[in-house]
Amino acid sequence: SFAPLIDPFARAIDYLRVSVTDRCDFRCTYCMAEHMTFLPKKELLTLEELDRLCTAFVRMGVRKLRITGGEPLVRKGIMTFFESMSRHLDRAPGERGLDELTLTTNGSQLERFARPLHDAGVRRINVSLDTLDADKFRAITRWGSLDKVMRGIDAARNAGLRIKINTVALRGFNEAELFDLAEWCAREDMDLTFIEVMPMGDMGEVQRLDQYWPLKDLRARLAERYTLTELAHRTGGPARYVRLEETGQQIGFITPLTHNFCESCNRVRVTCTGELYMCLGQEDMADLRAPLRASEADASLEEAIRAAIARKPKGHDFDYSRQTIGGQVTRHMSHTGG
Ligand code: GTP
Ligand code: 5AD
Ligand code: SF4
Repeated sequence: SFAPLIDPFARAIDYLRVSVTDRCDFRCTYCMAEHMTFLPKKELLTLEELDRLCTAFVRMGVRKLRITGGEPLVRKGIMTFFESMSRHLDRAPGERGLDELTLTTNGSQLERFARPLHDAGVRRINVSLDTLDADKFRAITRWGSLDKVMRGIDAARNAGLRIKINTVALRGFNEAELFDLAEWCAREDMDLTFIEVMPMGDMGEVQRLDQYWPLKDLRARLAERYTLTELAHRTGGPARYVRLEETGQQIGFITPLTHNFCESCNRVRVTCTGELYMCLGQEDMADLRAPLRASEADASLEEAIRAAIARKPKGHDFDYSRQTIGGQVTRHMSHTGG
């Protein structure tokens, strides 16, 4: 078998995030510009190329695969890809394979896809949702229907999927809904994670700074109503968790601007054009599409992956304090898939 992927800081890379499309049926203001130029189809990895790429990573020790976008469920034929990936979930003890196949979605297509996703072995999904107010939802997504997403979430629950809601904390936007969101998730037995808005993309940096709502403030607000217990367990993921003692509910916080999880980072991400980014907050990447297209054999692909992991940086350079473009990543979140 193959040596596992270990980076220069002795971190084992066993989590791969793959964006399968840069397109989305929404245009969340912090994620995309209103008028986006999307990539021509020939730039995208084909479903076969995505399969070869993910399979190579599984051979090299990846155990968790998260499909992202854009919105992954708008990619044509994506269910065929999930069905194909599910073969990595069945494996003999001691063999390489996936422990988890999952996705991050805006929920708009879940009514249709929840059941087939469950059939393909998906057990937990992350759904992005920033507000429970239909008008505000339309405003932040620029035209999305909250009702449709809610029907999608119901369909997911009925199909037996566990749901985690991701909410980007936005000052002056969802501040007043903090408790409503927490209570809704508690009632529906869904996990909830708040995300600090990250300085990505080329639009409206000033606006994003205005909307910057530090999670330590959000946490302090929660503490006015609930007794919070900091949970020690770190999943290797970016979230830290607290438990609300009154309800037993667990709430996660993702604060990308502190370096609190870089030291245990276990992940890399691939864009829909096959660029391998070693860190969400750095520009360095390796092109995996060229080796994929140059040869039917995977030797040069594997070599390119190893060479890239060998230069995974220690951490990111996000920095709000300078209030300049410095340290900001100019690509959109929809490019790297979060
Ligand atoms: P699980 O831990 O498996 O639930 O996934 P997740 O929370 O990492 O995935 P999800 O797609 O729900 O992402 C939530 C947020 O975390 C997104 O805004 C991501 O961009 C952010 N995120 C994920 N990985 C990283 C990372 O390595 N660095 C930083 N700074 N942010 C990340
Ligand atoms: N900052 C923080 N989170 C973002 N997301 C998209 N753009 C940003 C940003 N600039 C979130 C989405 C989704 C996750 C994959 O990334 O809301 O939950
Ligand atoms: Fe689409 Fe998600 Fe970006 Fe919103 S945050 S535009 S739903 S990819």
